[in-house]
Amino acid sequence: MNKDSKPHDGGSTTRAQFATRLGVIATTVGSAVGLGNIWRFPYEAGSHGGGAFMLCYVFFIFIIGIPVICAEFIMGRGTHSNIIGAYRKLAPGKPWYWAGYMGILASILILSFYSVVAGWTLEYFIQSVSGNLDLGSTAAFHDRFESFASSNYRPALFALLFLAVNYLILRRGVTAGIERMSNILMPVLFLLLLIFCINSLMMPGADEGLRFLFKPDFSAITPTVLLGAMGQAFFSLSLGLGCMATYASYFNHRTQLARSATLTASLDTLVAVLAGVMIFPAVFTFGFSPSAGPTLVFEVLPSILHSLPGGIVWSSLFFFLLILASLTSTISMSEISIAFIIEEKKMDRRKATALNTCVAMVLATLCALSFGCLSGMTIFGMTLFNLFDYLSSNILLPLGGMVCSFFVGWIADRAFVRSQLTNGGTLRLRAMRVIIFCIRWIAPVCIAIVFLNSIGFIN
Ligand code: PHE
Repeated sequence: MNKDSKPHDGGSTTRAQFATRLGVIATTVGSAVGLGNIWRFPYEAGSHGGGAFMLCYVFFIFIIGIPVICAEFIMGRGTHSNIIGAYRKLAPGKPWYWAGYMGILASILILSFYSVVAGWTLEYFIQSVSGNLDLGSTAAFHDRFESFASSNYRPALFALLFLAVNYLILRRGVTAGIERMSNILMPVLFLLLLIFCINSLMMPGADEGLRFLFKPDFSAITPTVLLGAMGQAFFSLSLGLGCMATYASYFNHRTQLARSATLTASLDTLVAVLAGVMIFPAVFTFGFSPSAGPTLVFEVLPSILHSLPGGIVWSSLFFFLLILASLTSTISMSEISIAFIIEEKKMDRRKATALNTCVAMVLATLCALSFGCLSGMTIFGMTLFNLFDYLSSNILLPLGGMVCSFFVGWIADRAFVRSQLTNGGTLRLRAMRVIIFCIRWIAPVCIAIVFLNSIGFIN
């Protein structure tokens, strides 16, 4: 972003913009890459049969993900508004903007459970630095995590601490600092992932792990796997809730939307695949169960880090970078409602940020406790943590993405859409027809099929 890079200066009407092309990519990739890739992807893949899930996931990223990112980019950059304002500007007087409210709801739900996992990361970072993570056996790592997550106050405390840091960054609008830092540090995270992958590939369980992740068993592709993979694609790309649209509202007229969308999706997928290659060989080497669920990565990671010489340094660095990657994601999901409150409700940035944080703090505490004293409280058989995760990723995001691509494909002015994709006709975009076709037909129809399939409507 420009020097005074507050996305909003409360009251001022000139909106800030990302200054460079690298700035655009760094922020969108910063939003996309986070716990979704390193924590959620391995656990979802592990509980949905590995290869079958992976195949569907990559398929959805390219066939649905990229077109929907383009659709969100078009809405955001074309209107320079928050998500609700964007729907309102493009279809005045029509109720489409309700999809924007759905996105805001999803962003709050995600922020709540996400900060719990970020809190776990914080705890593991502190434990690493203080040398307490150097356990011996697999069972010890498992027990350690169990007893930590189910203890009542520490996980809640760390989630709140994380939200407080998120608040402090967003309140000042100093996201530029974070962006600059993440420009430098994300490549380091990437490098670390590569090193850990190589380490994992030398483990005795590497073959089995890779086979699990990359060899699809087609008979394992069930409606549940399809829905899970689609949800993961949306979650990982920060898609379907207006996050990419909100960021695109800070793009300038030269940003090439289709190219940025493809680059963001490709880098994000690469990180997820690397995380898989890092985790699964270790899962089989150390005898963990791949379908352990949300706790999987936090049990496996310490054993990977432990197996490296100088484990404490590696693990401290890794958890630190993971916290940073989580922050660039939570900043982006908070920005959706903050931009909305500032622009539509005319509140100043500080109050808007405080409001967003307070709501998230209450819900995050409940999510954290759902591994401890609230573990018996279930809705549709799910704890609050799992419910928020399932509801947002598998239902709200794909639904939001479906509405958005339908809206851009069929409701928004055609000339407007074309001009956004080609930067007012100055770009010769050979793939334009394909992109528009995917936005109009492929994305909404595919999402609808997966939904109908998962509720048993079509087989
Ligand atoms: N994509 C982020 C991740 O993978 C999570 C996220 C979801 C961020 C929705 C913003 C909005 O960690």
